[in-house]
Amino acid sequence: MKSFLVGNWKMHFSPAQSTDLAVQMAEIIPQDSPVEVWIAPPALSVLPCSNATKATALRIGAQNAHWEDSGACTGELSVPMLKESGASFCITGHSERRHIFGESNKLVCQRTLGILKKDFTVIHCIGETLEQRENGEMQSVLQEQVQPIFDECGHSKNLIVAYEPVWAIGTGKVATTKEISEAHSFIQSLWNGLGDCPPILYGGSVKPSNYAQIIAIPSVAGALVGGASLKKESFEELLSIASAA
Ligand code: PGA
Repeated sequence: MKSFLVGNWKMHFSPAQSTDLAVQMAEIIPQDSPVEVWIAPPALSVLPCSNATKATALRIGAQNAHWEDSGACTGELSVPMLKESGASFCITGHSERRHIFGESNKLVCQRTLGILKKDFTVIHCIGETLEQRENGEMQSVLQEQVQPIFDECGHSKNLIVAYEPVWAIGTGKVATTKEISEAHSFIQSLWNGLGDCPPILYGGSVKPSNYAQIIAIPSVAGALVGGASLKKESFEELLSIASAA
């Protein structure tokens, strides 16, 4: 099965800078790559990046999206707008949306379920804070964040889950393989849909020095990468590790 390598560029790069880097990233993807390589640049860069990499294997997506097609929703983007701009996926529930911008779990689940109904691919992010982990709440937090999606989405082929422990994002503190494996197995145990559980990515300080160990965990379907996706060199190293796995 193909693994996923997804770069989340967060609020980095202007449209011109994003386009330039996206073109370079597209060039490093070998033909018949065993890895799906996706990038989520800032919203303004989705259209130019998609246009510039149209004929390549790189897929461009958005970092968030709304469940309605249009309306009085200042600051939001809809799935039809994203599709027209060449995006083929979006992220929802990133911990920065949940914790810095106060998106509730209810809102995040509404986003994910609404977007799935529009036949669009979603990377639904979940993860516990350090305090929640230390209080023994890791499983209940993950369950609360993913169960509404598993219960409602049926057998959607468009759902991808990303397990990103909040304490590992942008901190350099990567979860151990045991911690990742336990969390992924727990998420898989919650899946009660038809067929196979959706792919589960790991995210949180993934870098070339730790990725070989992470991608070797059988329940890890790939990675959602922030910092190490901002440079062609480190992203290329991640891609070769994933290709060899
Ligand atoms: P990081 O970010 O790789 O810089 O920790 C991951 C993410 O925010 O998805």
